[in-house]
Amino acid sequence: MEAFEAMSTCRAMRYLKADEVPSDLIEQVITAATWAPSPGNSQGRDFVIVTDKEKILEIANSIEESMASRVASMDRPDKSHRLMLDGTEYLLKTLKSCPVLIFVCGKPIYPHGSPRESFVWSSIYPAAQNLILAARALGLGTVFTTFQGVAELTIREVLDIPNDVLIGCMIPLGWPEKKFGPLNREPYDNVAHHNSWQGELRVYPPIQD
Ligand SMILES: Cc1cc2nc3c(=O)[nH]c(=O)nc-3n(C[C@H](O)[C@H](O)[C@H](O)COP(=O)(O)O)c2cc1C
Repeated sequence: MEAFEAMSTCRAMRYLKADEVPSDLIEQVITAATWAPSPGNSQGRDFVIVTDKEKILEIANSIEESMASRVASMDRPDKSHRLMLDGTEYLLKTLKSCPVLIFVCGKPIYPHGSPRESFVWSSIYPAAQNLILAARALGLGTVFTTFQGVAELTIREVLDIPNDVLIGCMIPLGWPEKKFGPLNREPYDNVAHHNSWQGELRVYPPIQD
């Protein structure tokens, strides 16, 4: 698939089938993630790939326990919030049957001698996005999530992740149950500033915590 098509149709896929994902495809998406840039090419990120059903169940139950009622009670002021939160509720309910969970983790290692945490995120996010786009190109669905934070202790224990390693995000991976694309994004003219920050500050879309 052409890169622009993958990028422009790569919606957060919260509806995933329980069907197995072949290990060579998992390896391909992780390999694509390793191609992402990082500060000074420090590459301070690692990928914990979870396919063990019991471990997935334990992690999924712990996340669902903390998140489900919170998400259920969130306002859905418009269609886009409704779709996102309905999808999140569905994902929380079905995470236990998701075939693969990928944790993108990082350790403060850059710059050498006085590592800063901000550079960990700079290493994790481009890698996560490469992974997501590679999955899309292979017809696989993913969603970038950070709600694994509510179950961090369980996740560290189940996956033996040391305390000095940050867990940046959790990416469920599987075959999509729904269609990809198109995306709802601000058009070029609303976000591009030529040679100076000119014009009225645009109204940013409402954000829900
Ligand atoms: C840093 C970051 C954190 C996110 N955390 C979550 C999350 O915890 N749960 C979730 O369901 N989606 C999460 N998302 C996905 C966003 O909600 C999604 O990318 C956005 O709503 C656009 O959706 P779309 O690609 O389907 O248009 C996260 C995305 C990013 C970039």
